Amino acid sequence: MLEASVPLLAALLLGLLLLTLLLLPRVWGSLLLAWNVWAPPTVYNLLMGNSKEQRILHHVLQHATAGDPRSVIDAVDAYCSQKEWAMNVGDKKGEIVDAVLRDQQPRVLLELGAYCGYSAVRMGRLLPPGARLLTIELNPDYATITQQMLDFAGLQDKVQYVTVILGASQDVIPQLRKKYDVDTLDMVFLDHWKDRYLPDTLLLEECGLLRKGTVLLADNVIFPGAPKFLEHVRGSSSFECTHFPSYLEYSQVVVDGLEKAVYLGPGNPARP
Ligand SMILES: C[S@@+](CC[C@H](N)C(=O)[O-])C[C@H]1O[C@@H](n2cnc3c(N)ncnc32)[C@H](O)[C@@H]1O
Repeated sequence: MLEASVPLLAALLLGLLLLTLLLLPRVWGSLLLAWNVWAPPTVYNLLMGNSKEQRILHHVLQHATAGDPRSVIDAVDAYCSQKEWAMNVGDKKGEIVDAVLRDQQPRVLLELGAYCGYSAVRMGRLLPPGARLLTIELNPDYATITQQMLDFAGLQDKVQYVTVILGASQDVIPQLRKKYDVDTLDMVFLDHWKDRYLPDTLLLEECGLLRKGTVLLADNVIFPGAPKFLEHVRGSSSFECTHFPSYLEYSQVVVDGLEKAVYLGPGNPARP
């Protein structure tokens, strides 16, 4: 009796597991992402002797037009939606970033997390002439690719100063005033590791880099998610928040979103 019920129990558990996977897009999203991030690139890297990020740059150099940022963006999106998934903000959320940028017209823009330079090209092309874009990247290989991507897109003609800073955000932020001559920031695009969103927001405030009206725009607040950051900015009287729902880059099922948090000043009395 007991022996007969073991396969039945196993089948039941397997059925439950499959049902859970089917019902939870978030679970599917995590599995899909893990697969896309690790499996094909690892095989390709071994076969082709280069990295996914070098392949993205190579595709841009082959298919985009030098000096034309839009063609660079389109080439990256085409490669990453058809060939290899990559963690750029992507086309759908990119349009939200474009809209916020057009609205804000920042003169000093800081990006945390450059990766291959996709969002830096995307944002740089919309900045007013003479504006500054500083982008901080932890990984030296990614920082080099970002510089090459920005050079190819020809942003130096449009944006007076584009600076790719190699280093960890938590080390660079305290140097922005003295070493990079930044007074206050008009806008910050947060797109590095998600557990850094909150500590770096607090650090930016502590270093006096936020002014009344500075816009923080944070990617991936739903997936992979930045719950502590969201809880802080939404619960604080120092920020006014707007959520922009969307989907994870190059995905049509994994729900994600951007959070815009406008700094209102320290301990703004207008809200509790
Ligand atoms: C999601 S990717 C950035 C994508 C890019 N903003 C885009 O949309 O094209 C995150 C990047 O942040 C970098 N990163 C993670 N933690 C960082 C930190 N503390 N300081 C600087 N860069 C960091 C990673 O190396 C990675 O390249």
